[in-house]
Amino acid sequence: MKILGIESSCDETACSVVEDGKIILSNAVASQIDEHRLYGGVVPEIASRRHAENITATTKKALLDSGTKLKDIDAVAVTYAPGLIGALLVGISFAKGLCLANNLPLVPVHHIAGHMSANYLTHPNLKPPYLCLVVSGGHSHIIEVLDYTKFHLVGRTRDDAVGECFDKVARTIGFEYPGGKHIDAAAQLGDPTAYKLPKPKVDGSEFDFSFSGLKTAVINIVHNAKQKGIDIDVNNLAASFQKTVTDILVEKTQLAAKTFGYNKIAVAGGVSANSSVRKGLEDMCRENNFEFFAPKLELCGDNGAMIACQGYYDFISGKRADLSLNGIATLPIDKISI
Ligand code: KG4
Ligand code: ZN
Repeated sequence: MKILGIESSCDETACSVVEDGKIILSNAVASQIDEHRLYGGVVPEIASRRHAENITATTKKALLDSGTKLKDIDAVAVTYAPGLIGALLVGISFAKGLCLANNLPLVPVHHIAGHMSANYLTHPNLKPPYLCLVVSGGHSHIIEVLDYTKFHLVGRTRDDAVGECFDKVARTIGFEYPGGKHIDAAAQLGDPTAYKLPKPKVDGSEFDFSFSGLKTAVINIVHNAKQKGIDIDVNNLAASFQKTVTDILVEKTQLAAKTFGYNKIAVAGGVSANSSVRKGLEDMCRENNFEFFAPKLELCGDNGAMIACQGYYDFISGKRADLSLNGIATLPIDKISI
């Protein structure tokens, strides 16, 4: 069964053809990052316009690269939540048009479920149930993956998402947007014990995260140093920040795994490309005798293959949308009603 997956929730227009939720036949991405970089972050209005301009060519490329024609496609899967509303609507409207014109079923996919599916594409042996840490530019969640289409949200960030925190810290210490990968590179050259940074606690839930206090602490270090005319050691600050984030993510994931009785742990989302986060989780899993799964680096960020893969599982579980499908900017993964 061949699913065409369409993703347009943020700043990548992406389209892919995936067979049986396993084999990536094509994975086309038109990135807008170069343009958003000029503004230091994603500008929603620009994102919508670029999606509208790029979506036809990206879809054509995905079909061409896969050697398939629309008549070979069994269903169209599209990200409908969560994300930038104008950006989502471009992908949804395009997918509806394709389905209407070609008499194809339309499958609505939750973006976070899509991120987690990147692990099925990387590790064909991974099967639910397992515990997944999702860390992206917009989300930080600990999720019980009960089945391919059933989820329970264990913990979430109360303020900034991890990726957002990486990007804001990166901007403060002088890196371009999106700064996560620059922090990762600088941290390789720094001493993670050089700066003492706080690990903010969250009242009320031991599985929830809070990153804004950590972000503010780094920003204060940089501003205080500037006022006093002292140079910051960028590599040391990047390494200390990255180590603190890793420790927070690893501690909470370990606690959730032990509390809920999981011995299979996965990570997903753009920040799962981070070398320290991957290693920290891998080490923790080895110490506890847990199995650890992380997506291939090229499948960590937003892509169409993860949507086509999750779309396959949603499709075989019977999920369908009609032409009234709308985008939803905020939708917790365990509140999916379609
Ligand atoms: O999942 P994603 O592509 O988009 C969202 O759904 O939000 O994640 C993008 C985020 C950005 O904040 C980016 O800085 C971060 O992932 N990121 C990284 C790394 N590569 C990408 N953060 C830390 N280390 C990295 N190597
Ligand atoms: Zn994403």
